[in-house]
Amino acid sequence: MRGLEGKVGIVAGGGRGIGAATVKRLCAEGAHVIVGDIQEDWAKEAAKAGSQGSGKAIGVHLDGTKAASQQALVDQAVKDFGGLDFFHSNLAGGTEGDVDILNCPEDVFDRQVAINTKSHFLATQAALPAMLERGGGSFIYVSSGAASGGAAWQVAYPMTKNAIHPLARHVARKWGPKGIRSNVICPGLIMTEAVAQHLSDEQVEGMQKQTPSARLGHPDDIAAAVAFLASDDGAFVNGQVWHVNGGTQMRD
Ligand SMILES: NC(=O)c1ccc[n+]([C@@H]2O[C@H](COP(=O)([O-])OP(=O)(O)OC[C@H]3O[C@@H](n4cnc5c(N)ncnc54)[C@H](O)[C@@H]3O)[C@@H](O)[C@H]2O)c1
Repeated sequence: MRGLEGKVGIVAGGGRGIGAATVKRLCAEGAHVIVGDIQEDWAKEAAKAGSQGSGKAIGVHLDGTKAASQQALVDQAVKDFGGLDFFHSNLAGGTEGDVDILNCPEDVFDRQVAINTKSHFLATQAALPAMLERGGGSFIYVSSGAASGGAAWQVAYPMTKNAIHPLARHVARKWGPKGIRSNVICPGLIMTEAVAQHLSDEQVEGMQKQTPSARLGHPDDIAAAVAFLASDDGAFVNGQVWHVNGGTQMRD
């Protein structure tokens, strides 16, 4: 991919799944990456696996719901790699107990606001000044097809994911003229550890049948889209919400 060699980025929530696959892909493209995760050992493991490419990765602890922790991640990128060119804000969680609106407890909603919405707000506040200093940069936020899918079984996850979209558009509109790009990826069903453990073989087969691309998603499918948006090949993509899902949802 054009222009990723030597770039410096952060993958927040990069300890496993889509984040870890993205660290690997970015390093293989020659980017240097700070990997943050609430599970510090996962972050270090993902960084070790990623560093086998030409780029280098460092794994650190991150609590994405805390401003100081997000700032420490950015400071580390500047200290260890000399600046910041992109931020892949991938982390999510707290969905346990998230059911329909009449039965979803308030604390479950609040927890998801913190993890799935506020973390991206804080990441942007921490990273934007460092990117502006660099003369530009790219935010790649991870939302979900669930944000627009209309789920009967879950209320807070789609709400808190959807809130990322206007954040990305705000950043693109306000700081686009200063060289900042800001986009969202909405994955469809991607077979990560987090997802696969909840699916029976029957469910997997059923979902495969409903996917026009005739297979389920792999973390590498999302990693490829992130790498594109972080690279100079993505230079004219700004303020967009991309659905990467093998065709399960088809949106304008
Ligand atoms: N896998 C899918 O089918 C799918 C579909 C749609 C959207 N997504 C989104 O893609 C992203 C990655 O999904 P995944 O399946 O790889 O999930 P995952 O649970 O494997 O990865 C999320 C990572 O975020 C970390 N994390 C959670 N809370 C954190 C916090 N407060 N601070 C720092 N790190 C924290 C976790 O430890 C984990 O490593 C998520 O945003 C998810 O909502 C996934």
